[in-house]
Amino acid sequence: MDVIANYYVESEWQIEKAARSIAAEQSTGTWTSVSTSQKGSGLDARVIKAEGNFCEIAFPEELFEPLNFPQYLSVIAGNLFGLGAIENVRLLDVEFPGKLVKMHKGPRFGIEDARKILGVHDRPLVGTIIKPKVGLSPKRTAEVAFDAAMGGLDLIKDDETLANQKFCPIEERIELVMEKLYRVEEATGKKVFYAVNVTTGARDIVERAEKVAELGANMVMVDVLTAGFDALAALAQEIKLPIHVHRTMHGAITRNRKHGIAMLPLARLVRMAGGTNLHTGSYKGKMDRAKEENDACRDALRQDWHGLKKVFPVASGGIFPANVAENLEGYGKDCIVQAGGGVHGHPGGSTDGAAAMVQAVEAWVEGMSIDDYANEHRELKEAIEYWGRNPQIEY
Ligand code: 6PG
Ligand code: MG
Repeated sequence: MDVIANYYVESEWQIEKAARSIAAEQSTGTWTSVSTSQKGSGLDARVIKAEGNFCEIAFPEELFEPLNFPQYLSVIAGNLFGLGAIENVRLLDVEFPGKLVKMHKGPRFGIEDARKILGVHDRPLVGTIIKPKVGLSPKRTAEVAFDAAMGGLDLIKDDETLANQKFCPIEERIELVMEKLYRVEEATGKKVFYAVNVTTGARDIVERAEKVAELGANMVMVDVLTAGFDALAALAQEIKLPIHVHRTMHGAITRNRKHGIAMLPLARLVRMAGGTNLHTGSYKGKMDRAKEENDACRDALRQDWHGLKKVFPVASGGIFPANVAENLEGYGKDCIVQAGGGVHGHPGGSTDGAAAMVQAVEAWVEGMSIDDYANEHRELKEAIEYWGRNPQIEY
């Protein structure tokens, strides 16, 4: 069986030659024939299709070392990006043979497991990113988490740049936040996930996650592109907690529609490596996006796939109550919609902000417009009055 990869290509060469160069460079070849070549090794990649600006390449499965994510990427997304005669090339999708996919355990906790823990089955999940993104002390972080959780959220998360800096040591932070979340559970009966960012170097990441688990964590978060796919795989194998996967830095890789790597192959790798939730972008918000790419990631994370558990797509970045419905139209029920500024910027504070986000989700579930729903829900009404439909991006 082969691994099939699809690329968009712009080159001074004809597409057939450009595709041949990719197949050769990424498998057994080089720019000239060599006396050492081993004919019939079965390791040559083959061009299956080359037409217009698109090509499809088949890489023999034996080229891949099972479970070695860095090596997978070096084959399907390695040197080819730097070939001088290829001006632009973008990896659009990759199809791994079922046998290889099944060697990966995938998520230890999938969508159904996370829903079971929360006891929330019939609506999208709602989350917040603690803001400001950095600078709060552990005590203040815990207070903000408490306020937000009291508004009815399902998930609270660290921002991607918060790790274990002096102003907010991770061990103290996890203890204080979890203590507050237990208080919320006592008061409201509601469980809330806290995705604490354990991202750090290869030597320490598992140990850091074990430490926070010991101190009561109920979810961990990892910045998968800066830490690496194997960091995620190691967490999924070693830590018995759901994993929130952030994709910080992805814009450098995914944003150029002609060059780099589309989000879809990265989403497939995250599912193989074991994420529970993955940031896949918003349908409306502050970040750049493409609807078809969101749709493709959504489907790749949730469709039946060789027995691997399903992953929540996460809409994030510039979300607030008035654009919740557009995001839910895109992602449907099995997603997480989360807001930072859209919660903590509410004129009534974080509790009201969280409540307004939850109400916006409820309105969508009920099939009601937020304006109608707001007539009965003060927090949502205030959010709409405060921000309007297209708020000014202040920064
Ligand atoms: C995240 C992401 C990102 C976003 C925010 C959300 O951590 O979820 O980095 O998608 O930029 O941090 O914050 P706002 O809701 O305030 O945009
Ligand atoms: Mg962020």
